[in-house]
Amino acid sequence: MRQPIIAGNWKMYKTAAEAVEFVRDLKPLVAGARHCEIVICPPYTSLEVLAPALAGTGISLGAQNMFWEAEGAYTGEISPGMLSAAGCRYVILGHSERREYFGESDEIINRKIKAALINGLIPIFCVGEKLAQREEGVTTQVVRKQVTGGLAGIAAADAARMVIAYEPVWAIGTGKTSSSQDAEEVISFIRGVVEELYGPGSAADVRLQYGGSVKPGNARELMGMSNIDGALVGGASLDPVSFAQIVNYPA
Ligand code: 13P
Repeated sequence: MRQPIIAGNWKMYKTAAEAVEFVRDLKPLVAGARHCEIVICPPYTSLEVLAPALAGTGISLGAQNMFWEAEGAYTGEISPGMLSAAGCRYVILGHSERREYFGESDEIINRKIKAALINGLIPIFCVGEKLAQREEGVTTQVVRKQVTGGLAGIAAADAARMVIAYEPVWAIGTGKTSSSQDAEEVISFIRGVVEELYGPGSAADVRLQYGGSVKPGNARELMGMSNIDGALVGGASLDPVSFAQIVNYPA
């Protein structure tokens, strides 16, 4: 049985003090949630303060990016080992904003995924098509290329413990959610690609999230789809009440 996973991607929002305040407010709101794993992915500057704030809550910590090298003269970069030492269990890799604004290719993302896995971090690996690609009808080709490129050279057992987030770029921050049927269709396609690459065992175990304008009002329907195992939430994860409502989607 795949445990659902709801992750908040804070992007470039919140100071460390605001992050601590958020966790203080969130904790009582999700204290009863046993049905899913909860992850918060703040900016790097909040990781060290949130690790102790989250201890004992069952809420996991994740980062939003990292470099693949262990250490060296790479000004401005953060290594996988540094994230583990800061208390991270997860790291978001290949987010469309990294692809778009920082030139991350499938090959770069693949190097990062390998480095994360070697260091015991679980990648939340993001894929998704742009609006023009959806309109051209090439969504599955685009997503297949991203998935196979990102997973190149990765062993079946590692692929099985990863999280893959399907985030259609046109649905991110726009208020336009993919319909739950459309999201399910692409996400079940992704599970099929994992099956082609690794066989049914890994395909059955890999957790697949939907991301893109997930809100309290649509979380339950999305989470009800048989191949959707969670959500990667941007804007609505910045407020403890709305994030808790998404986490508590069955209620
Ligand atoms: P929004 O939930 O703000 O659309 O962002 C989605 C996202 O990019 C999460 O990684």
